[in-house]
Amino acid sequence: MMLGEPSESADCWKKAGDEALAHNIKGVIMMGAHWDAAGDRIEVATNPNPGKSPVAYVHPSKYVDYKLNPDLKTADRCISMLADAGFDVAANPKFDWIHDTYLILIRMFPNGCPPTVLVSMNARFDPHFHVKVGAALRPLRKEGYLLIGSGGAVHNLYRNVWMPMLRFSDNFAQETPPEPWALEFRQAVEDAFVHNSGPKLRRAVTRLMKHPLYRDAHATDDHFMAAMFVAGAAGDEEDEGVYANLTAETWELTNMCNSQFTIGNWPKTLNLAA
Ligand SMILES: [Fe+2]
Repeated sequence: MMLGEPSESADCWKKAGDEALAHNIKGVIMMGAHWDAAGDRIEVATNPNPGKSPVAYVHPSKYVDYKLNPDLKTADRCISMLADAGFDVAANPKFDWIHDTYLILIRMFPNGCPPTVLVSMNARFDPHFHVKVGAALRPLRKEGYLLIGSGGAVHNLYRNVWMPMLRFSDNFAQETPPEPWALEFRQAVEDAFVHNSGPKLRRAVTRLMKHPLYRDAHATDDHFMAAMFVAGAAGDEEDEGVYANLTAETWELTNMCNSQFTIGNWPKTLNLAA
């Protein structure tokens, strides 16, 4: 899968990681696409020695030896900041990390994982709720933390073309172009990110979940929540005039689009991988 194989997006993550290190990044705060908390809750990972959940179609040699670096001190700060913002938030000391986060970190920081905090989604997948999570953690950007959201612009596993992957292990095969609904929604995501800033970015990104093709592009909401988190983190009034750049894009399984956006400039600090 794309997270395991070389790709233009993987090169883009490496470049973003190099830039972060060159600017003495303090740590990473990350929301992925595979961890959600039930009820009204969100959780923050505090397992001091997290395992890595295995990932389908990626050889374990690509990740088993990479040492994760959970930042427990900053995790506690995140919990306080989220509680102060009114969230029902708790530490999760047992959570093992999943490929939506650790494979990105491996690509960005192959020589060592910076101190990292993982924040869960909430299983109700309310866009405005997740914008508020990003907004609550936004002050950490000014301290030199990199906030990352990991998900996908178009991600509907039911509508992918799986045969080249299953027969030839070729996730990048494009025997046909992506279907119109996928192209159309991917364009809507790009337009929302690159043509809006500040609170307008938050409005545009949350509104994407009302797009007529949203449910075609996302059969489930989990891979779109990180975009809300990022819009919250980079969509304050202070961010007006700071627009996202589309830095790379990788299609796989014909209809799944992984668009990479970066918002903000060092040393002001905010990058994201979607
Ligand atoms: Fe995923």
